[in-house]
Amino acid sequence: MNDLANYDVYFNEELTRHFKLGRSALSSLLSQLNIGIGDKILLPSLICREVTQIIQKLGINIIYYNVDKQFRYGEFEQDSKIKALLVVNYFGYPCEIIKAKEYCLKNSIILIEDNAHGLLGFDSDGNLLGTRGDFGIFSYRKFFPLSQGAFYINNSNCVLTDKFNISNKTPNITFYIKWALYVFQNKTRLNILSYIRKYMPEKKEAIDNDNSISSIDIIRYFCFKKIDFAKEVRRRKLLYKSLEINATKYGALKIFSKLPDKAVPYCFPFYCDDEIILKIRELATKNGLKVYRWPDLPDEIIQNCPEFYQKIWIINLSA
Ligand SMILES: Cc1ncc(COP(=O)(O)O)c(C=O)c1O
Repeated sequence: MNDLANYDVYFNEELTRHFKLGRSALSSLLSQLNIGIGDKILLPSLICREVTQIIQKLGINIIYYNVDKQFRYGEFEQDSKIKALLVVNYFGYPCEIIKAKEYCLKNSIILIEDNAHGLLGFDSDGNLLGTRGDFGIFSYRKFFPLSQGAFYINNSNCVLTDKFNISNKTPNITFYIKWALYVFQNKTRLNILSYIRKYMPEKKEAIDNDNSISSIDIIRYFCFKKIDFAKEVRRRKLLYKSLEINATKYGALKIFSKLPDKAVPYCFPFYCDDEIILKIRELATKNGLKVYRWPDLPDEIIQNCPEFYQKIWIINLSA
């Protein structure tokens, strides 16, 4: 089976449930699994607050495990109240899954692969990211100018009662304009969307504060289905290569020595001190790309985290 055929699973109506946001997919999944008040979940301490907030809202207690400077995870705690372990494919780099699988098998714990950054990627054994744990979380809205779009996938034998559901609501006019420009940009290679972003900034807060668990609408789902994934994989890899060469010239320190062959980058991640970020920002802007720190850490982590947690920057490769 070729890689493109593997992507069909994103649209499998038995195995996937599509939502507006990745955090909603996670929240809905945890509820389906009856993980709730008083239960515990293992999460990496390097994680964004959007994820922790939705888990805390369900009354689930979070136990954090450590992540080191190379993004390798430490030991997992033992506790009979732990119902799930969440591992993250940071920036599209496949995390090491074997140790997590062994731990989950031994302790009868559900393994959730947070693949919000890993759409389209595979690990070195050719396994599609997001299909290696019992469940996978995806956020395709991060990869394309859709603003909404995410899903979870069921890779286990567990039968969930939630039914495949796409809403009939239609997006507003801004969405159609942006999508038309994106399609045009793909044909012409003119960076129109970055200009538009400058003059019509997205209302990020509105969508990011919409924590209702809503299904994706039919138009965005259809647009996602129509994307030429092979072309997008090539675009991301090429862009990554050129940024890797140029950003390191300006002093960015690579987090990972090499992008694995079958991985597809969400962004170019690097460590950087405040003094040199201006140069790198210039480089990104020239390419019509956004640079920012990642992640927006939860309050309970910021207070005690290793210094390097606050020196992580990314150049987002999305148009
Ligand atoms: C690792 C990770 N998982 C999940 C999410 C949630 O995705 P979304 O923003 O679509 O809710 C994010 C981003 O917020 C993330 O960085």
